[in-house]
Amino acid sequence: MMIVANWKAYVEDASRAKKLLAAAKRLASATEVELVLAPPAPLLGVLASGNKSKVAFAAQDVTKQSGGAATGEVAAQLLSSIGAKYAIIGHSERRAMGETDEDIAQKAQHALANGIVPILCVGEKARDEGAEYLGALRAQIGAVFSALSHQERLQVMVAYEPVWAIGKSSLEAITPPDLTEMVLYIRKLLSDYLHGKASARTKVLYGGSVEPVNARDLAGGTGIDGFLVGRASTDADSFAALVKAVS
Ligand code: PGA
Repeated sequence: MMIVANWKAYVEDASRAKKLLAAAKRLASATEVELVLAPPAPLLGVLASGNKSKVAFAAQDVTKQSGGAATGEVAAQLLSSIGAKYAIIGHSERRAMGETDEDIAQKAQHALANGIVPILCVGEKARDEGAEYLGALRAQIGAVFSALSHQERLQVMVAYEPVWAIGKSSLEAITPPDLTEMVLYIRKLLSDYLHGKASARTKVLYGGSVEPVNARDLAGGTGIDGFLVGRASTDADSFAALVKAVS
């Protein structure tokens, strides 16, 4: 299992970030769960510098192309050089700011070209009786995977994050049976782009109001490989409880 801690903009000072990292390092040394921290960009360099622990790092976003005239952006090459192994791309909070599937496909290519594993976020805004929302997922996955070579597709991770479940409470997260169904559906979509057993090997994470109280049920038997956790990952106690729940 893997837990990616998406700190978003919740962590606003370096000393709190350092405390969270120290706690994550202690947890990492005592668990098989792979721990990945996704701090705000300026903190990534501070935390990842000299890191020799099992904790890995992710950027929360990446540029579409190499550096140049792009005020406010952080180039993938820089992220990679300061220690980012992964990059979250296509998060719904960035899509809401206008990011398109085309942008996200370019970000995936650019991340991969710089040795960064993209964690591609997909998820429907709402559910409807006629299950039209499945089409939204098909489009989001198709837009990125169709733009990549087979070799590149093998490296991408998928985070299923239904927008309606993000930033709420565990009571409003997806149920384990519904998650099982969605993971199967996502793997079916992936099999259009990855031959043979390769689509079964793609890491599929779930995100959206994962908390210590629902993590075990969501992890058990649903077919997911881990979680992308926002709010509950920004408190040392709840992060420790989450890791324990899936260990
Ligand atoms: P949440 O966020 O755990 O706070 O719901 C998850 C995410 O958006 O990645």
